[in-house]
Amino acid sequence: MKDFKRYTITAALPYTNGPIHIGHLAGVYIPADIYARYLRLKNKDVLFVCGSDEHGVPITIKAKKEGVSPQDIVDRYHNMIKTSFEKFGIAFDYYGRTTSETHQKTASDFFKTLYDNDKFIEQTTEQLYDQEAQQFLADRFVTGTCPKCGHDEAYGDQCEKCGTSLNATDLINPKSAITGNKPTLKTTKHWFLPLDQYDDFLKEWIIKEHKYDWKPNVYGQCKSWIDEGLRPRAVTRDLDWGISVPLKDAEGKVLYVWFDAPIGYISATKEWAEQVGKNWKDYWKSDDTKLLHFIGKDNIVFHCIIFPCMLKAEGSFNLPDNVPANEFLNLEGQKLSTSKNWAVWLHEYLEDFPNQQDVLRYVLTANAPETKDNDFTWADFQARNNNELVAIYGNFINRVAVLTHKYYGGKVPQADDLQDIDQKTLQELKSFPEKIGQSIEKYRFREAQQKLMELARLGNKYLADEEPWKQFKTNPERTQNIMFVALQISTALAVLSEPFLPHTSKTLSDILRLKTLVVKLNWSNIAKHDVLLPTDHYIEKAGLLFSKIEDEQIQKQLNKLKQSKIDNESSSQDLTPQKEQITFDDFSKLDIRTGKIIKAEKMPKTKKLMTLKVDIGLEQRTIVSGIAEYFKAEEIIGKQVSVVINLKPIKLRGTLSEGMILMTENEKGKLVFVNSDVETPTGKTIA
Ligand code: MF3
Ligand code: ZN
Repeated sequence: MKDFKRYTITAALPYTNGPIHIGHLAGVYIPADIYARYLRLKNKDVLFVCGSDEHGVPITIKAKKEGVSPQDIVDRYHNMIKTSFEKFGIAFDYYGRTTSETHQKTASDFFKTLYDNDKFIEQTTEQLYDQEAQQFLADRFVTGTCPKCGHDEAYGDQCEKCGTSLNATDLINPKSAITGNKPTLKTTKHWFLPLDQYDDFLKEWIIKEHKYDWKPNVYGQCKSWIDEGLRPRAVTRDLDWGISVPLKDAEGKVLYVWFDAPIGYISATKEWAEQVGKNWKDYWKSDDTKLLHFIGKDNIVFHCIIFPCMLKAEGSFNLPDNVPANEFLNLEGQKLSTSKNWAVWLHEYLEDFPNQQDVLRYVLTANAPETKDNDFTWADFQARNNNELVAIYGNFINRVAVLTHKYYGGKVPQADDLQDIDQKTLQELKSFPEKIGQSIEKYRFREAQQKLMELARLGNKYLADEEPWKQFKTNPERTQNIMFVALQISTALAVLSEPFLPHTSKTLSDILRLKTLVVKLNWSNIAKHDVLLPTDHYIEKAGLLFSKIEDEQIQKQLNKLKQSKIDNESSSQDLTPQKEQITFDDFSKLDIRTGKIIKAEKMPKTKKLMTLKVDIGLEQRTIVSGIAEYFKAEEIIGKQVSVVINLKPIKLRGTLSEGMILMTENEKGKLVFVNSDVETPTGKTIA
């Protein structure tokens, strides 16, 4: 394997439209973090970058839903996501944002360079358009049936089921995600990256060069897309949220989010380099730098085909050496889903399991969806914690620390005349850095972590077999040797755990006071020293590294999921049962009229209330309505509504409300007015 001088490791920039859950962590961020930490422990020059993907339709949709600006959304989630990563010990060197100035400029310049070098084709084509929303429907603004696999919720740029990248016009039965309408076609001009012209390059680079070192799932997908033939792909969009296309005749157009986002890795590198006084180009343009992209499987096409073609077109950048994409993680047998709240959110996990980040890291790595989709279950979470972390790792360390204090006042004893079993155990210990490292370098993180646990098992078994507690009285010298060996294993465990269990590694290193050693231990030197923790070195008393997880704690999590299921079922049916019957007389007491909203104002200092002036034909009424969370004042002025006008007026927050507006929900659960065909209020009753 070529020895690289530098490593640039990227982890997919998460969309900043919601918090992150265990699926993200398991698929992308934990493996990337293990890899980066491992290389750092080998004293390599490593840059590990990530950041917020703040453009793109998902963010616009979320903002629309909440009636706030896209900037509000990205500010909120950028901080939330960044904090979650920090708490889980995902040790990025830099966490950027694609709304940063550096990024805007970097992405814009990148586009301009390709444009100036004639790398794009300019084309006016018919694109999907929503007449009602007056909006072109690209990417996630449109869903439809995938022409390739038949999945009926494919997006305008990609089918997440089969991974294929699509053009919106490829979708069968497209539907606007904004209004639910069937789109029409409208012509518009865009710039396309002619992927078909990169056919030879991709065949050479992927199919020939990376056939054996890329994961089969990644290689296989790429090969089948290349074999099918690639088509030009638009890299601009008619949207108002994104990086403006830096050309004169491109008013109202922005860069396609998948054009700008991966450039975010480069921008983040620039910002980092500026901060730490390095040259960013070393990390992107130098032959002896290895570039790696950690991603989930839905990102393969973008990182293996589109971004490399962009880099190739530009000409001066490195191409990724590997793209170790993972498959998906399920939760209790079901696909993780944000909208169905079928997820374990990191911020919620921490509320229920404070300071137990490493347990989740451990379980997610043990079940990492490396070669196929995999399942997270709470029962497995509990079992792995109790039977592995507590019973093996924790138990071993606890025994070592307690006995060292009990027998030797916390000092590493002197060892003389080691027996065969001791020698053999110390010898075996030395094989672990290499063994674990080999798995990590092949991106087999589950296997790597299993090997780490073998080391803990080795220690645990050694103590159980040699039974120092039985030897102490009759055979103090033997006991010294045993404890000496056990302390060496503990030390190796502290160092080698770091990539997987960073918090535990830190606690254990503190117990063993590794910082005070003359030799700074790392991945490479463990096997070189016969003694890691010298005689007379003092260690602290141990606190518990792991604690047992009780059935009630697990039940609570299962109940939460059960509730999500109930909520979903009721919201998908959402049929309100009929109320008790009333007589005609009851009905005729209601005076319902057609009205028109002529003025609307959000009531200051309230969340929900809006003060409306409604023309009901007879007169104008003031009505206070609890709709401010669903509508903006300007969008409802002029709307026709139905009003119950003889409801007894009541004062709401100091304003007298003289009626009630009838509302219902449309098929998508959105609140809408019950309106009539009458354009101008007539003053006549309805019914
Ligand atoms: N935001 C994308 C997602 O969550 C990933 C972007 S990765 C990058 O699927 F390369 F574009 F940065
Ligand atoms: Zn598909």
